Amino acid sequence: MKDHNTRGQFTSSLGFIMAAAGSAIGLGNIWGFPTQTAMNGGAGFVLAYIVLIFLIGYPLLLAEFVIGRYAQSNPIGAYMKIKGGRPFIPAGFLGLLTVGFVLSFYCMVAGKMLAHFVGSFLEMLQLSSWAQWVVQDHWSPSLIFTTVFFLFTWMIISAGVKNGIEKWSTRLMPLLLVLMIVLVVYVLTLDGASQGLKAYLLPDFSKILRPQLLISALGQAFFSLSLGVGGMMVLASYTSKRENLTRMGLLVTLADLVIAFLAGLLIIPAMYVAAANGTAIFDAQGNLTSGMELIFRVLPALFDSLGNFGVLVSAVFFLLMSLAAITSSISMMEVPASYLVDNKAVPRKQATFIVGIIFWLLAVVITVNGDWLFGLVVTATTQYSQPLLGLLICIFAGWVMDRNAIIKELSSGNPQIGSSLFMKIWPIFVKFITPLLILMVFLQSFL
Ligand code: PFF
Repeated sequence: MKDHNTRGQFTSSLGFIMAAAGSAIGLGNIWGFPTQTAMNGGAGFVLAYIVLIFLIGYPLLLAEFVIGRYAQSNPIGAYMKIKGGRPFIPAGFLGLLTVGFVLSFYCMVAGKMLAHFVGSFLEMLQLSSWAQWVVQDHWSPSLIFTTVFFLFTWMIISAGVKNGIEKWSTRLMPLLLVLMIVLVVYVLTLDGASQGLKAYLLPDFSKILRPQLLISALGQAFFSLSLGVGGMMVLASYTSKRENLTRMGLLVTLADLVIAFLAGLLIIPAMYVAAANGTAIFDAQGNLTSGMELIFRVLPALFDSLGNFGVLVSAVFFLLMSLAAITSSISMMEVPASYLVDNKAVPRKQATFIVGIIFWLLAVVITVNGDWLFGLVVTATTQYSQPLLGLLICIFAGWVMDRNAIIKELSSGNPQIGSSLFMKIWPIFVKFITPLLILMVFLQSFL
């Protein structure tokens, strides 16, 4: 197994924060969070989400950081190296498989975002028939853009930790924030936006106690913080022992929450603006449109109704989506790539190539087979596999891993932590509260 000097390392705290926040902030925030909020009755969902992200998300994220940096390895390597970890090796492989499946469907959706970005650009150049071809709902343009998106991800990963992940995350994340703020400010000035703000920020009490709300909020928290599948473990394994992991984890959680909240301020008012301009935003049951329908029908209709300026807004929006997606997809591809590099001594470029080809082929199968397979993969990975893996990580960090090793790891970069209140509370969460909550919500989803 390689030592950390040959594996690569982030050169600064900023590099690590941007890479971890980049992994967390993605389509899940800008698309998933607002639509889940809309479907689950507005502010009640936001509240449940905030509670869950701190009770479940943050403790688990920190556990992943600790395991990753302590072992200086990918999840499988970590379970091999850490005492007591052997029985968890299959969980490492399940994580690797899960993240590969997530990568495949994610690149497919991200490819569509890229297609719409290119389409808006072609529209600006008055190349309408090209633009229409690019954004049509057919497998051929989908496949082309999924492949292009894969190639971008692949190029960044094959350049390594410092010249790939760190360099591109620190460039793209600030750009993402600026584009987001510009769009929020613009949309809030349009007619109909205030009604959307009400729908977003006022709770619908009739929906607050529905079990579905908690299940959705948990799934959303897991996906949004990239938990369970080992992406965060791998990123932490590249960070220096001088970094304060508790603070880093908190910053990443907060950044993820802030961007999700901002995305809600963008998407939900935008839907009501579209309604004010004559687009249907409710389905036959009276629920707000969500999923593909929202992004690829409602929002494009809104952009169309904004006249010439709409093409520019559309280009900016889909660029934002594509950027958010790529900073997440790189952390996904890094998990299997780092396994090959660490455990099988495959050179990075080759490792990336192998991983890229395997999961690209999977993406092709999903793209060509259409909605049923896509839905199945999304449900299996995000609703079942991710929470299950999260549960196993809690069991490992809370019950199996040596407490002194954990304290030592957390003290590195934060020397006072051993005697702090935090060190009394966090283990209780990882041992009892977080796994029990995961289990409860998880079991409820079977009922
Ligand atoms: N957190 C990403 C999002 O919210 O879009 C998705 C994700 C990234 C999931 C990385 C899993 C992962 F390993």
